[in-house]
This record gives sequence, C-alpha cells and structure tokens, in this order.
Amino acid sequence: MVEISIDEMEKARKRIEGKVHRTPVIQCEAINKIAGTTVHFKCDHLQKTGSFKSRGAINAVLCLNKEKGDKCKGVVTYSGGNHGQALAWAALQCDIPCCVAVFSNTPQLKKDAMIGYKAELVYSGNTLGEIELKYQETKAELGYDAVEPFNDVGVINGHASCAAEILEQVPEADAVFVAVGGGGLASAIAMYVGEKRPDIKVYIVEPEAKQLKPYLEEGNLPDHDTINTIADGIRVLKVGDLCKEIFCKYSKETIISVTEDEIRKALALIWTRTKQRVEPTAAVSLAGLLKLEDKPKNPVVILCGGNVDLSFVP
Ligand SMILES: Cc1ncc(COP(=O)(O)O)c(C=O)c1O
Repeated sequence: MVEISIDEMEKARKRIEGKVHRTPVIQCEAINKIAGTTVHFKCDHLQKTGSFKSRGAINAVLCLNKEKGDKCKGVVTYSGGNHGQALAWAALQCDIPCCVAVFSNTPQLKKDAMIGYKAELVYSGNTLGEIELKYQETKAELGYDAVEPFNDVGVINGHASCAAEILEQVPEADAVFVAVGGGGLASAIAMYVGEKRPDIKVYIVEPEAKQLKPYLEEGNLPDHDTINTIADGIRVLKVGDLCKEIFCKYSKETIISVTEDEIRKALALIWTRTKQRVEPTAAVSLAGLLKLEDKPKNPVVILCGGNVDLSFVP
C-alpha cells in the first residue's frame, strides 16, 4: 500500500518525468516594486491541461495501473473542472476510460475540455453533497477505480513534484505561497518543503470565508459545504482528512486569509503586469503575499491554474 512520504514523492516525480512539464519560474519588475520584494512566480498555469492537477492525476493513474499489474479498468472522479480535465487527460495517456461527475453548472469550456480528452460525463446538482453522491453511484455502477480530487495518496505524492522543482529553480527561496481548496496541492508543498527545507516558510492562503485555522484547531464546520468566492477552483469548504493531518503538522501557524477584494486586486495585477492569463484561484497566493506585513526576501508564489471561463472579467 503506497503511503504519503518523501520517498514516495520522489518516486512519483521520477514516474511522471517527461509526462508533465517542468514549469517555468518568472519575475515581474513592476510587481517586485509593488510588493517591495523579489517575487518568483511558479507558472503551473502553464502545466499540461492548464493547472498543477495533471501532476497528481497522472501519478495516481500510473500507480493504479501498476497495482493492477497492467491497466486498471477505468478511473472515476468528481470535479468542478480542473481535476476532471487532468484525470481525463491522464487516463487518455494511459489508454483507459475515465468518467467524471460534474456539476450541472460546470462551465462549458471545462466540460468541453474533459470531453475532448474522451471522458464520459455524468451530471449532478450543484452542491458538493449531490456531486459526491453521483460519483459514488457511478463508481459502484462502473466498477472503476477512484481518483479523488485532493484526498488521494497518489494525487498528493504527484503534486509534490511542483515543490521539488521550486527547490531546484529557486534555491534562495525563503517562503512559498499556495492557495488551498481541498488541500491536495498545499499539503504536498507543505510536507515536501517542510521536510526538505524547513528554513522555508510555506504560507497556505485561503479566501476568508473558509476559516481553515479554527477547523484545524477545533474541527468545527458550518453546515454548508461550499464557500462563495471568486476563486472558483477553491470553493470547497472542507479540506481532505489526509491533507488536514499534514496541515496540522506543518502549517497551523502559516495560514493567511484574504478578502475577495484582495483576490480581485491581485488578479488584476497579474493580468496587467505579468500578462499571464491566470484564473482567479491563481491570484489567491499573490494576495496572501501582498497582505503579509513582514515580506520575505525571496517569496515563491504558485500560479496554480489558467483555465479562465471565457465569460469571466474581473
Ligand atoms: C486552479 C486551482 N488551484 C487550486 C486548487 C485547489 O487545489 P486543492 O483542492 O488541491 O487544494 C484547485 C482545485 O480544483 C484549482 O483548480
């Protein structure tokens, strides 16, 4: 049984090498001036399928295939967009079928991308409860293996490749800023960096409605399952249990909450100054850096996705 560990993260990185991009790190003089420090943007919006999600998805599928001796029968998941696209792409690379439960209001662009990668889509209502139910039913019906969007060992180990690249590309880094949704990416970064370079602080940045810190400390959650934020990739309220455990160990003290206005301003800065057309969720990390009073000298800001809905204007 594969576990979440630095050793497995290193193996995952080798396993997916050549299948995903080593994404570039860029700087922008104008943003350096505004932030008053040297900002290193890790461009995972330029990753295959337009987000970091491909890293974990392809690792998870390759691990499942190995576990089954050759190929698994198929993979199934639920997703508001980016994970579904990434898993559909990963399954296509390995020539296995993929089925994704999507919300009925998932943007057409994202549904078209999944269909383009030959995934079968099944439709649920618009709440997390409804989509999870549809996913469970579909999984039972098709007998496919599950690759959940964040609470998945293979996915988390695969995402850590982003952290490994950062440590090589920006050895002078003293902080990393990463957005949190279900927590797959942020927990992978927190654990990998926490173990390999404990001198680097990993800041987990959330829309303020999420309230991750009280959840980690007290375990209490409101009775709704999503939050209302412009950052549509991270509307899920709760983090996965695997991710929660990692956050409690590495990141309890480094959570930053940002307002919707702060996310909007950071997004406008990225669009106008760096000319990178990222999606709103990718601006959350920069909003976190801009909010921090005592700025690190060499912060790395992860731009996590570039799948912008065509109808969206900030
Ligand atoms: C662009 C983007 N960034 C960040 C996240 C959050 O990832 P996680 O659920 O691993 O925290 C998502 C999730 O879908 C996403 O699409």
